[in-house]
Amino acid sequence: MFAKRTNWNLAPNRLSQALAAHRAAGKPLLDLTVSNPTECGFEYDRSAILNALGNPAALSYEPDPRGLESARRAVAGYYAGRNGDVSVEDIFLTTSTSEAYSYVFRTLCDPGDEVLIPSPSYPLFDFLADIQDVSLVRYPLLYDHGWQIDFHALEQAITPRTRGVIIVHPNNPTGHFAKTAEIAKLNSICSAREIALIADEVFLDFRLEENRPASFATNRGAPTFTLSGLSKISGLPQMKAAWLIVGGPPQWKCEALARLEVITDTYLSVNAPVQLAIPSFLEQRHAFRKQVISRVRRNLAELDRQLAMRKTCSRLNIEGGWCAVLRVPATRSDEDLAIELLTTQGVSVHPGHFYEFPMDGYLVVSLITPERTFAEGIGRLLSFF
Ligand SMILES: Cc1ncc(COP(=O)(O)O)c(C=O)c1O
Repeated sequence: MFAKRTNWNLAPNRLSQALAAHRAAGKPLLDLTVSNPTECGFEYDRSAILNALGNPAALSYEPDPRGLESARRAVAGYYAGRNGDVSVEDIFLTTSTSEAYSYVFRTLCDPGDEVLIPSPSYPLFDFLADIQDVSLVRYPLLYDHGWQIDFHALEQAITPRTRGVIIVHPNNPTGHFAKTAEIAKLNSICSAREIALIADEVFLDFRLEENRPASFATNRGAPTFTLSGLSKISGLPQMKAAWLIVGGPPQWKCEALARLEVITDTYLSVNAPVQLAIPSFLEQRHAFRKQVISRVRRNLAELDRQLAMRKTCSRLNIEGGWCAVLRVPATRSDEDLAIELLTTQGVSVHPGHFYEFPMDGYLVVSLITPERTFAEGIGRLLSFF
């Protein structure tokens, strides 16, 4: 009686089973996979956050398919601060970036149409695509003195059913930002074939290098949807506040806005207290970003200090984001390795295959892990090799 799209294999994998057994036995755990910012010891302005939710204007209902204009103005202000001119009319508020993806897929794709996604990348897309009846096709990112898009493979992956190319900027977990030349190439590929660019910028503010990467929100070279939200920017995933921006050739944009307006008007999903609080929540981003960048830098320095003493392990270049990718001896599968690190060292890491690394020998650790846990966890992890 169920739809085939929900025929998921929901059995826990061997690593999650081992982790559950480890926790159930009450054994100590150095968790290097933490990604929930509200549980990583960052300081939040509690009263500003809670006060923002008590706005009396929330007592009246002002439905708007794009979301309250005051909130959209604050989002436009975020881009203005990055020298980007985004019109409030091109912004739709959503409850999460995931919801924004679903609106974009619904706008672009009929059942079975294809969307290209980078590989490696975050394993969120498979379920989002399944639920919207979209087929995902992977295009590889190559590592050679830093990450780059394999454009030859990307072009080969395009078929008459391709409707969009997702670019995660910077990518999770590789930390790779799309460079100016890559953006130009993406624009020329997508505009020539009339397919859309779907840019996920949830980690855009967390760059480790001096140069500020451009946002796709002002991209005009191809039909473009830009997605972001407060779960990473302000470290407030519990508030469920995100957005979607439409940009590109004027005639296409007009058509896309009209279609999206029907979808968003059907759901009107973001609640009033959160919409009213968005300007204040966005203000929180400055203090949050400062703490994250300083933790990421300190954890990276500690990682490099410990790696300098080991010949067999190294890390890949990182331009931004919250993760580090470790290169370790591929003596067994990544999953077996992660299980052994858990059972023998009490350290939890993500195996590379979780993010679709094409071969064994990669582990992913979170750079927002509290510093003492990170230093001790990396020490135990490296002592294994
Ligand atoms: C690249 C990327 N996009 C989107 C999300 C989800 O963001 P949201 O909480 O807004 O759905 C994540 C979550 O980790 C992510 O890593």
